[in-house]
Amino acid sequence: MTRHFLRDDDLTPDEQAEVLALAAEVKAAPFANRPLEGPRGVGVIFDKNSTRTRFSFEMGIAQLGGHAVVVDGTTTQLGRDETIEDTGRVLSRYVDAIVWRTFGHDRLDAMASSATVPVVNALSDTFHPCQVLADLQTIIEHRGRTAGLSMTYLGDGANNMAHSLALGGVTAGMHVTISAPNGFEPAPEVVAATEARARETGGSVRVVTDPHKAADGADVLVTDTWTSMGQETDGKDRHGPFLPYQINEDLLARADANAIVLHCLPAHRGEEITDAVIDGPASVVLDEAENRLHAQKALLLWLLRK
Ligand code: CP
Ligand code: NVA
Repeated sequence: MTRHFLRDDDLTPDEQAEVLALAAEVKAAPFANRPLEGPRGVGVIFDKNSTRTRFSFEMGIAQLGGHAVVVDGTTTQLGRDETIEDTGRVLSRYVDAIVWRTFGHDRLDAMASSATVPVVNALSDTFHPCQVLADLQTIIEHRGRTAGLSMTYLGDGANNMAHSLALGGVTAGMHVTISAPNGFEPAPEVVAATEARARETGGSVRVVTDPHKAADGADVLVTDTWTSMGQETDGKDRHGPFLPYQINEDLLARADANAIVLHCLPAHRGEEITDAVIDGPASVVLDEAENRLHAQKALLLWLLRK
């Protein structure tokens, strides 16, 4: 059966560990695997802006010997109401995998239901699982492991990063805390899926409103933009409610002395994170960004072997 990677629990804990081990191998020997030699193709579709995802997938696919067909979704017939299902069936005749950044997660489900090649979520409104593979790779590099470590995410608890960090982090055996203002808590369905995963791995998830309590002793602090793509004009006041959740030097001082700070980028300096923290010694955001390349190559290698 064709495997897809739409959300973090599409990989079992053992499978996630396999992909992360492969990511370390790929990083050590970037040109050792060329399964897409030919070249075989990967369709990479963007319905939203991107820097890291665009560059890392296009370069990663080239390094695997393949060709990336990178398109703005609005310029395809999807933008003129061709169905997602017809698109999935047709693209499967041209390419070996489909990578898609889009809005509603149901759109990815529709693509996966019709495609006969793997579909990879390059960010939806609900999940950003490729980012979290890179985040876990970065945590392993800097802290030696994931299992048993505590990770606190501060900010919009209902966005794609909060959801994927919870589900992906617990899959890796982490103790995940999501700290968000009232009205910005993670979706109950995602919390339920995360709790189910936690029972398998020994990890845990909790939602804590108080940002100070949430940060106390954390091994990993993470934040993300307060306004995700697509929310720019929703009229919600975010600055006031979110300011107490900013990762600044005071908040960092509450975390473990060896804590590392992650941010998927792009950062809004002075909002969710200060210059002093993102440019400071605890920040590993550039390794994290680099690891998008390695983790996604590993994911594609793994999916194409299935
Ligand atoms: N982190 C991330 O997905 O960045 P881009 O939006 O630049 O791809
Ligand atoms: N939550 C952010 C992540 C950007 C990579 C967004 O969806 O805009």
